[in-house]
Amino acid sequence: MTRHFLDLSDAGGPALAAMIDDALRRKPARAGWAKGRPDADAPLAGRVLAMIFEKNSTRTRVSFDMAMRQLGGSAIVMEAGAMQLGRGESIADTARVLSRMVDAIMIRTDDHAKIEALATHASVPVINGLTDRSHPCQIVADLLTLVERGLPLPGLKLGWLGDGNNVLHSLIEAAGLMRFSITVGSPAGFAPDDGYVERARQAGGTIRFTADPRDAVKDAQAVVTDCWVSMGQPDSAAKLAAMQPYRVDEAMMAAAAPGALFLHCLPAHRGEEVTDAVIDGAHSVVWDEAENRIHAQKSILRWVFGQL
Ligand code: CP
Ligand code: NVA
Repeated sequence: MTRHFLDLSDAGGPALAAMIDDALRRKPARAGWAKGRPDADAPLAGRVLAMIFEKNSTRTRVSFDMAMRQLGGSAIVMEAGAMQLGRGESIADTARVLSRMVDAIMIRTDDHAKIEALATHASVPVINGLTDRSHPCQIVADLLTLVERGLPLPGLKLGWLGDGNNVLHSLIEAAGLMRFSITVGSPAGFAPDDGYVERARQAGGTIRFTADPRDAVKDAQAVVTDCWVSMGQPDSAAKLAAMQPYRVDEAMMAAAAPGALFLHCLPAHRGEEVTDAVIDGAHSVVWDEAENRIHAQKSILRWVFGQL
């Protein structure tokens, strides 16, 4: 069976834990090395990953490319607009052709149905590099960052502030798989999708909602946020106005548990969802979180290739 990674639930809790353990082992083993030097075991030697981007990216693009280099393989980066996909070749035919040429495909796209179609027609693993619905690779890096900072996942308490978006959907999914709790503080009309919430609750996660941002971060061991307007969403003045009370500033961090961490997938809109003082301050682990995209990606790649 081809292993696709469209959402965290495709892997499940035990595999997710194995990915985090693998990253925790591999990351320190190459401390101080040149960033492109392959790991000693080069477990993906000869493998090639094709990446398709229908939206902008800095971290996902570079971290997957570096992950493949460090695993001994290589990557091909394609902008969808420069592919025949951009002038009407179908997703299904793209999947069939790329499956004959490369060993795995990563795509960043808008409609989640597109990645599902790609996976249906591909005979090699397909990895979700972000869709309008979810961003599972980001959350593997976030979980790695939390564990690295000494926060075990079961029983962890997180506070999310702002938009009920793709990143939150994957974080909610993780709460179910790894049994932790998230309190979501968001204004009316910007809640996450019910399906993710219900599935996470059934799996054993605790998902709570509040309109009061201070209530959302109360006792939180980490405060997590993201941009208020995701790529491809309309930039509405009404939404920006509704989000104002959910900005993460120093007073908000002081309302969380003592020593709480601040996480943000980046890119940040400084002065909107987070202040400079917080993102550049002592609570922030955002640069570790960004670096950990490489280490998380490596474990995701090893999982799709059946090595974990
Ligand atoms: N966090 C994240 O996915 O960043 P990019 O959009 O730069 O890939
Ligand atoms: N929610 C953001 C995440 C960017 C990495 C977006 O979809 O634009």
